[in-house]
Amino acid sequence: MQDPKTHLDRNETLRSIRDRRSIRTFADRQVSDDDLLAILHAAHQAPSAHNQQPWKFIVLKDKAKNDLAAMVSERSSNFPKPSAALLRMASRSIINAPVVVAVMNTGELIERGTELFKMDKEIAHDFFRIMEVQSSAASVQNMLLAATSLGLGTVWLGVLALMQKEVLGFFGEPEGEFVAIVPIGYPVKPGVQPAKHALDMVVKYL
Ligand SMILES: Cc1cc2nc3c(=O)[nH]c(=O)nc-3n(C[C@H](O)[C@H](O)[C@H](O)COP(=O)(O)O)c2cc1C
Repeated sequence: MQDPKTHLDRNETLRSIRDRRSIRTFADRQVSDDDLLAILHAAHQAPSAHNQQPWKFIVLKDKAKNDLAAMVSERSSNFPKPSAALLRMASRSIINAPVVVAVMNTGELIERGTELFKMDKEIAHDFFRIMEVQSSAASVQNMLLAATSLGLGTVWLGVLALMQKEVLGFFGEPEGEFVAIVPIGYPVKPGVQPAKHALDMVVKYL
């Protein structure tokens, strides 16, 4: 099989996909409002089930960002070791990044879908919840790729889902569902490419 680098070198979009790495430490340099807006617009262009755009993006800077990091660090000790360490690491990335965007689901698709579709309520709830999570996850990936294309680094922090109630309460969005927290900034050093499975391990042709 050809080197994946060759396939991913064909245009700018593919190069951004190739070059995106999880970045957890950021340089002391602001992200411009223009770049932040481009990233938010990219996130908002994601596909969504029934075009319901079930996401909400919460931008945190300065005190709000630092207060979130402090809350995460403080509550991390309530969790067993591996999660506590991941939460503390997440808190450090939040403090360190000049700007953080949180992504959450609004729950509106779940509410509307279960009303509109003549399905068993429980199945409908699960179905629309999956649709919401998948739609918002697509918006997160758009965000990561847009940031990469602008020379910025990001990391998708999922571990804060462990304290989603507190996090959503902090945002003033108790009805929502946590999807991701994304610190954004200039990488201090390039990300290291982690091992990825060989493509033929994950693709099956029928
Ligand atoms: C749903 C999801 C949740 C993640 N949660 C975390 C997290 O809480 N903390 C963290 O440091 N990285 C987190 N990551 C980043 C992964 O660790 C990273 O994507 C993986 O190691 C591959 O590295 P790469 O992004 O550089 O390709 C998460 C990624 C995804 C997609």
